[in-house]
Amino acid sequence: MSWVIRSDATDLETLLLEESLFFNGNGYLGVRGNLEEGFPEGETSIRGTYINGFYDDVPLTYGEKLHGFPDSQQKQLNIMDIQSVDLWVGENGNQEKVSLWTGEVLDYSRELDMKNGITVRKLHWRSSNGHELLVTFKRLASMTHPSLFMQYITLEPTNGTVPVTVVSRLEGDVVNHIDTTDPRVASGHAKRLLVWDASLTNSGMSTVEVETYTSGLRAKAASSIDIKLTGAESSSAVDATGITTTASFVLSETTTIDKRTFLTDSRKDSVSAEHQENLIDKPPEYFFEKQTAYMRDFWKTADIQIEGDDQLQEGIRFNMYHLLQSAGRDAQSNISAKGLSGEGYEGHYFWDTEIYMLPLFIMTQPNIAKNLLLYRYGILNGARQRAKEMGHTQGALFPWRTISGSECSAFFPAGSAQYHISADIAYSFVQYYLATGDTDFMIHYGTELLLETARLWMDTGHFDANGRFRVDAVTGPDEYTCVVNNNYYTNVMAKYNLDWAVKMAKLVKRKAPEEWSHLKQTLAFSESELVAFAEAAEHMYLPVDEALQINPQDDSFLQKGIWNLAATPDDQFPLLLHYHPLTLYRYQVCKQADTVLAHFLLEDEQSEEVMRNSYQYYEQVTTFDSSLSFCIFSMMAARFGNLDKAYHYFIDTVRMDLDNTHGNTKDGLHMANMGGTWLSIVSGFAGMRIKEDGLFFRPQLPEQWDRYTFHMQYQGRQLDIDVTGRFFKVTLLNGAPLSFNVWDQTYTAEQNKPVHIPIGTKTLSEK
Ligand code: BGC
Repeated sequence: MSWVIRSDATDLETLLLEESLFFNGNGYLGVRGNLEEGFPEGETSIRGTYINGFYDDVPLTYGEKLHGFPDSQQKQLNIMDIQSVDLWVGENGNQEKVSLWTGEVLDYSRELDMKNGITVRKLHWRSSNGHELLVTFKRLASMTHPSLFMQYITLEPTNGTVPVTVVSRLEGDVVNHIDTTDPRVASGHAKRLLVWDASLTNSGMSTVEVETYTSGLRAKAASSIDIKLTGAESSSAVDATGITTTASFVLSETTTIDKRTFLTDSRKDSVSAEHQENLIDKPPEYFFEKQTAYMRDFWKTADIQIEGDDQLQEGIRFNMYHLLQSAGRDAQSNISAKGLSGEGYEGHYFWDTEIYMLPLFIMTQPNIAKNLLLYRYGILNGARQRAKEMGHTQGALFPWRTISGSECSAFFPAGSAQYHISADIAYSFVQYYLATGDTDFMIHYGTELLLETARLWMDTGHFDANGRFRVDAVTGPDEYTCVVNNNYYTNVMAKYNLDWAVKMAKLVKRKAPEEWSHLKQTLAFSESELVAFAEAAEHMYLPVDEALQINPQDDSFLQKGIWNLAATPDDQFPLLLHYHPLTLYRYQVCKQADTVLAHFLLEDEQSEEVMRNSYQYYEQVTTFDSSLSFCIFSMMAARFGNLDKAYHYFIDTVRMDLDNTHGNTKDGLHMANMGGTWLSIVSGFAGMRIKEDGLFFRPQLPEQWDRYTFHMQYQGRQLDIDVTGRFFKVTLLNGAPLSFNVWDQTYTAEQNKPVHIPIGTKTLSEK
């Protein structure tokens, strides 16, 4: 059940939205779910093909440019149009293009098949002259051969013979989408790429090579088209911006068109030659079968099942599927805010990866997680450089938004000032380590990153007259409250960063003394710094408001007036599109979870009472204008035993894109929220936490469900978890016995001997 997302919508607005929903990707390339035949002239379609991390630099212009403002911004480029396949029906001189807007549409539907990793679109069409054709477009972005995008088209004449002309094109002259009314979409610089070469190879493949103007990157598409029909001769014509391949034939029986496009780029070795030789002769089934096998393995280790609600089941799988489609695997790329589904936020990578998406990968696909972290390690030098530019004498400051490592944020209050990203990255390295036990990784990469980010906090913060360690003039996650002193989230995450730098340094010193000496030398690191880190962590300023018994979001937050959310008309949301930032900064009003998120990530830092009060307080002043909020409030509501609320926030996360509840899914999917759906179940309803002293659960079952199950890996072992109203069942599928905690009691699972822990129907509030 619920493996397929279906639609039969043909209106332009929904089709534009579906370009995101039905995109095909594999972590390296992403192709929006555009129609092969395109949109009617003048109508908006965002026709895009992207390579993860392929960008150009575009200049940033400021009215007043101050020190440290970035000169340019990286932008993920629309590489070229590789999707076009037009079908013309009729005799020469009297041909009609097959589309949703011509002739007569007899039937139309499309599907996203998450089990097999493909999309399928069917159009049964009749021309004005009565020719009938059933066309099925199957698409696949190969998970096993990352440069391959395949379109497999079946043509079936359903009422006599049909004269058909196929026109397939590779077009290099494309631009990015812009929207000057929404800062979350690019507002300018829709730059064309240089079409460097369009040619036909000896083996008959069409190739188009494009080059960026500034970053010097090149991308190449090599495309072949195979029509399974005797006598269907094709010919190709090269022009200044691309290649068109044309074939005409009379169709009397079902035939297929197999268009394979291999995308490569200059950051990789030149692999296109290998692909042409090895992969071009393989039958299409080869790729479909490999894709199905890959997806089978993925679902086997990652699927979440909910009994009792198909809509939610569909939503969870949809979100996980698109995360898989978007996650870079090559340590040079990451997951952008919109994945590979669209152009919102310019294809930039944010803290979204570490805090919202990485947990799923750490717990189900640790190899992908490792590569995502290696990407961060790969830009550590850039982060050191950025710290210098920002006036720091030491340490590494990661860019708030970036592609290949440079800071791309032009609006510093809600951008560069979010120093917490460095601690977020450090946090995720530690989570990866705790979940996998991969000490080697920490010896070679993680510890260096922890030490350098810890140094940043030493340089950014300072001890005040009362001996407290403060961090001033930064922005926390909430982008409606900017450049503040002692943002609770930032301080507590910095504390964790400092603590773990010390712990990991000691571990490496003990386990790998040679590597430790080498690291000390490379970083000119003195062990006295560890003492200073520990002291700063111990004295980190984490105040509790006396009267309210909550953690103030920052030093001035509680002194501001409270924004009247109830009196704000619905059409004024999201506030950022309707109010000057300063207006927002003057009020207690949050775009997203901030202190509450800190409590989720580091729950042992505060008392239960302070966390509960904080939850209640901040919920009242949060607009949820950022999609990164619902999951956090869902998890913390579950944490405090309010399952009904947890459930309702969960509903807001799970179908956000499928139901377009934020109204901007056409610009790309909300990837962080998608990761949040996974979290809401595993860390929300099942209450999973990974801590230094082990694996913890607080399982609960929303009354709307009969049961939910999920899989996870922990320290090299595979676990199946099954939660019903009566039991929390843990099955260890492999490896040495594992101890874990459920509601503060320790249990041990042995291989293939399920442990049943009665949970009754109680929730935390009743315990
Ligand atoms: C949120 C940020 C987030 C960014 C990209 C913004 O709207 O406020 O926290 O990183 O979107 O998803």
